[in-house]
Amino acid sequence: MKVVFVEAPSPSTAVAVFVHQDKQFTDAARGHDEANDGALSRAIGSVRFSGEKGQTAIVLAPTAGAQQIVVVGAGPLDAFDHLAVENAAGAAYHAVKLSGATTLTVDVRGLSPDQAAHAALGARLAAYAFDKYQTTRKPERIPSIETVEIATGEVAAAEAAYARLGALAEAVEFARDLVSEPANVLHPEEFALRCRRLSSKGLEVEVLGEEALAEIGMHMLLGVGQGSRRQSQVVIMRWNGAGDDSAPIAFVGKGVCFDTGGISIKPAEGMEDMKWDMGGAAAVAGAMLALAGRKAKVNAVGILGLVENMPDGNAQRPGDVVTSLSGQTVEVINTDAEGRLVLGDALWYCQDRFKPRFMVDLATLTGAMIIALGLDYAGLFSNDDALADKLLAASKATGENLWRMPLPPQYEKQLESPIADLKNIGGRPAGSITAALFLQKFVNGVPWAHLDIAPTAWKKPSTNPTIPEGAVGFGVRLLDRLAVDYEV
Ligand code: BES
Ligand code: MN
Ligand code: ZN
Repeated sequence: MKVVFVEAPSPSTAVAVFVHQDKQFTDAARGHDEANDGALSRAIGSVRFSGEKGQTAIVLAPTAGAQQIVVVGAGPLDAFDHLAVENAAGAAYHAVKLSGATTLTVDVRGLSPDQAAHAALGARLAAYAFDKYQTTRKPERIPSIETVEIATGEVAAAEAAYARLGALAEAVEFARDLVSEPANVLHPEEFALRCRRLSSKGLEVEVLGEEALAEIGMHMLLGVGQGSRRQSQVVIMRWNGAGDDSAPIAFVGKGVCFDTGGISIKPAEGMEDMKWDMGGAAAVAGAMLALAGRKAKVNAVGILGLVENMPDGNAQRPGDVVTSLSGQTVEVINTDAEGRLVLGDALWYCQDRFKPRFMVDLATLTGAMIIALGLDYAGLFSNDDALADKLLAASKATGENLWRMPLPPQYEKQLESPIADLKNIGGRPAGSITAALFLQKFVNGVPWAHLDIAPTAWKKPSTNPTIPEGAVGFGVRLLDRLAVDYEV
């Protein structure tokens, strides 16, 4: 699907207009209503349509302007921020995507160029589909929209605003593709290869294989992957956009390409979901692509810990003791608490090599996070209030919801091992918190935040028009927005 900006709607197969709460017409909606002798007013008067978010009403074969006009509920006018614009455009796309129409013109004349650009972003994110393996779909199930036109009075300004949002969309799509791929395709080496290809975008990409990792001493990470036929990989992506050698901001991602649980194996039901246990790494890779795509004036480093957690004759056993890169020893009580083992080494490596201004890690770390917060919030844990506040502000601005959780030092007791410095699980109480406390042992006092995105990496069903069912790409927009605060 392609997105273009136009001055005025050309004769189109489908036009979308927005109507606010209590049937308040936007300028564009009024224009189409008048051109069609009040057909839009009649249509929304004859069905339950108030202008509430997400409502749609379709006028078929109006006399002027299009083969169909979709009236989209845009919610209260005073709450019509850029996210609401995105959702309205996304809802318009879904209303006509299977209708046979090939062009959707979203008429936002009267809105600002920035809002027009967000309408384009919303339609584009809504149109994302991971359908490469669907070879026998009935033609009527295949979306018909090939082009989304955004009609705006100010094409050049809208295009300028979309330059960065288009780069962001590409980054979200990149992350969604990674998360959607099955694990037989996207194993650590394939993931690393896809990152390597981003060097064409101006990113520096370095890949460490098992030999290099052993040499460095990342035995805690390697222990997780040792039961897999696939090689573990650590990917280091750098974007040097600040134009100097100032300390970078750093993102670290959990990339467990498949998590069977290892010898502490998971139950069969739902195990297929664990292909998306690399959602944190996908978000980091996507965010790095977003920074490169919009030439952000910031130095940034992204580190991905890529492994596959499998049971095998060579797999790590419960009770094994590993020596982490930090030197701390860890008793692996449960091989299914593997994400923290991967991240612990990646975090230590990150701060030791790059001396970053801060580190933010993203990980589908604990099922307990879903129990604590439900599916609409990722957990935020941080040792630094300023960083946490910036993340919460980025969360508000992007709609990627975070809720701050505590890091009570007294719970560290739960991680004491009788034979090593730490054990890798802290029992059932506060499972997400003890996981975060474990990670904190590997940040060496650097300002750090941990985002447990287990609740938000995957949506089933979809709850938002711009996030189709499946991979969310959660974290790409958040990190991209956070980076703005550190640009020179
Ligand atoms: N990848 C899982 C966490 C997860 C579970 C994410 C469900 C999304 C949905 C993680 O590696 C894991 O297995 N965690 C265990 C930790 C436990 C063994 C302490 C869990 O949450 O059960
Ligand atoms: Mn696990
Ligand atoms: Zn996992």
